[in-house]
Amino acid sequence: MTTESSPPHATSATDRDERPVAVVTGAGSGIGAAIARELGRRGHRVVVSDLDAERAAHVAGEIADATWRVLDVTDPDACDVVAGGVAAQFGRLDVWVSNAGVSRMARFVDVSSEDLRRTFAVNTYGVFYAGQAAARAMIALGRPGRIINTASMAGKQGRVPYLADYVASKFAVVGLTQAMAFELAPHSITVNAICPGFVATPMQERELAWEAALRGVAPDEVRAMWINDTPLGRLETPEDVALVAAFLASNDAAFLTGESIAVNGGAYMD
Ligand SMILES: NC(=O)c1ccc[n+]([C@@H]2O[C@H](COP(=O)([O-])OP(=O)(O)OC[C@H]3O[C@@H](n4cnc5c(N)ncnc54)[C@H](O)[C@@H]3O)[C@@H](O)[C@H]2O)c1
Repeated sequence: MTTESSPPHATSATDRDERPVAVVTGAGSGIGAAIARELGRRGHRVVVSDLDAERAAHVAGEIADATWRVLDVTDPDACDVVAGGVAAQFGRLDVWVSNAGVSRMARFVDVSSEDLRRTFAVNTYGVFYAGQAAARAMIALGRPGRIINTASMAGKQGRVPYLADYVASKFAVVGLTQAMAFELAPHSITVNAICPGFVATPMQERELAWEAALRGVAPDEVRAMWINDTPLGRLETPEDVALVAAFLASNDAAFLTGESIAVNGGAYMD
């Protein structure tokens, strides 16, 4: 489903032509919101997109020169409408961050086919569809571009309890990132992924409650385990992730493609 938008800010046409344009999916919360804010701070015109209109509008309201769109990344046509619409509106599409993701914890033997389907629909198919849409728009514009996928520490190692479907969906994103990087390189489009660790977001709050219930311990005990698993000794913040995403979007990362960058305080080193 698409699209609603706050009115564009009243900047001059010249200003608008010079500033890079970035779309972030799942940007109404947590890591995506932090990435949108960081790109905004670095001078991008940011399109905050999310399944949830209210959240998208709220985050866009915190960023100078941001607009917002409702986008369900499981809908390939909607992804094309947003990517094509942004390209038509701004005349450029420099950065696309496929960040939307979901999780639900259960023992492997208890994961329902519906939950497995939903996890893949958002985390894997959503990254595929949104990546196709972004790449089509970038290629049509004939300009270089950056695509950044949010994978996970759980996209590189399966030693993660109660998240088998999530692990499988995120391993797929790491492979997809390499395949996209290879095919899109001739168009000067780089594709990389970020692999966060234990990030304090609403998703983590839900996982804390689920894991505590599955282990039969208090949520504080689970949080302490996660911190103990992190050599840098604290939970990761959404801003920790956003800084690496912004690096991948910057000129400093111009020759970097096909990589899935760990940003996890050392919780998993590869
Ligand atoms: N929090 C962590 O510890 C952690 C660790 C590694 C990776 N990640 C990944 O980072 C990304 C962001 O996670 P978060 O912790 O900020 O989660 P979050 O739940 O706080 O935010 C996710 C956002 O995605 C949106 N969303 C869900 N389904 C969508 C869909 N179909 N289309 C568009 N938007 C949709 C939600 O409305 C929400 O605003 C996810 O891909 C997640 O898997 C999170």
